[in-house]
Amino acid sequence: MTRIDTGAGHGKERGMSLVASLYPALKPWLFRMDAERAHEWTTRMMRIANGFGLLTLGQSEIQNPKSEIECLGLKFPNALGLAAGMDKSASAIEAWAALGFGFVEVGTLTPRPQPGNPKPRLFRLPEHEALINRMGFNNPGIHAAVKRLEKRRTKAVVGVNIGKNFDTPNDAAVNDYLYCLKAAYHVADYIAVNISSPNTKGLRDLQAEESIRQLLAALKKEQASLQMEHGKKVPMLVKIAPDLEAEQIEALARVFNELAVDGVIATNTTINRAAVAGHLLEKEAGGLSGAPVRERSTQVIQAFRALLHKQTPIIGVGGILSGADAVEKLKAGAALVQVYSGLVYRGPGLVREVLEAIR
Ligand SMILES: Cc1cc2nc3c(=O)[nH]c(=O)nc-3n(C[C@H](O)[C@H](O)[C@H](O)COP(=O)(O)O)c2cc1C
Repeated sequence: MTRIDTGAGHGKERGMSLVASLYPALKPWLFRMDAERAHEWTTRMMRIANGFGLLTLGQSEIQNPKSEIECLGLKFPNALGLAAGMDKSASAIEAWAALGFGFVEVGTLTPRPQPGNPKPRLFRLPEHEALINRMGFNNPGIHAAVKRLEKRRTKAVVGVNIGKNFDTPNDAAVNDYLYCLKAAYHVADYIAVNISSPNTKGLRDLQAEESIRQLLAALKKEQASLQMEHGKKVPMLVKIAPDLEAEQIEALARVFNELAVDGVIATNTTINRAAVAGHLLEKEAGGLSGAPVRERSTQVIQAFRALLHKQTPIIGVGGILSGADAVEKLKAGAALVQVYSGLVYRGPGLVREVLEAIR
């Protein structure tokens, strides 16, 4: 159940209570709306609410020194982040931070803007607290996002998640990633290399050992030269799928260790439908997220934790719908956690619950 603060707090605290306590009332109405429209509506409302200072628990939460954590050579206000895909265009960073997130991963962004797949492309499976999406990297292009990020004021850490355009063949994918890395380096606190979305044809093939070695070797080389040029190191993480066999995980970990990848984000959505077998929407193409991916994502975190160099952090994501779920990811070896689907099902109250649980 969503915890609702009754508003006994003062000032800033009360702002968050209002938004968090409104969500259970708004949710049935939002859930009658098309899922993508509901997402656009809530993002717009959040920006407006933030303009009126109504999301401000985050400010006190984000300034709570007890929650601070050092990771990836960065100082995170807290260990909870917004997963990629929620704010693809970096349009509401201040609002996410005000809600209490210690970091926000924007994107996935590609070199050129692209519309993504035809609608409908986002589906709710409330019986399973799950979503299926085949958005297909709809985004305004890396430069539009970078322009917004150049003006950001928040203290939250901002990661920029990068990918390739849908019509770039895999043998030229490296150029797209290099392009985005160069374009975003000066505004990003970290870069996430997304090779695990199931909705861009062939993207996951980049996880094959030789492909990933070549891709990451080129990106690491560029990262080193950008570090010289800008006088700062922007860590580069790789985001992986949950649908990997043990040998594939071993091969990936070998490459990550060999090339000194700065961190791993585990995991993206799953193409496995076992957990939702028999559901009306089971056959919808796309990635499944939320509760059904929780266990598998935790297993993948555990497997990578056992194989990666000790100093290589993992960001745990997949099926966090409660404070206890977040703690489970940390126990499995994650240093930081992210949520997406949980926010749809639980609303902003989840942020406080997770922060309290992990503190
Ligand atoms: C609608 C939607 C869009 C997403 N878009 C992206 C994306 O553009 N890039 C990415 O790396 N992950 C994307 N994801 C995956 C999430 O970041 C996350 O890894 C996944 O949903 C598992 O976490 P969750 O169970 O908390 O949702 C998306 C997920 C959803 C539901």
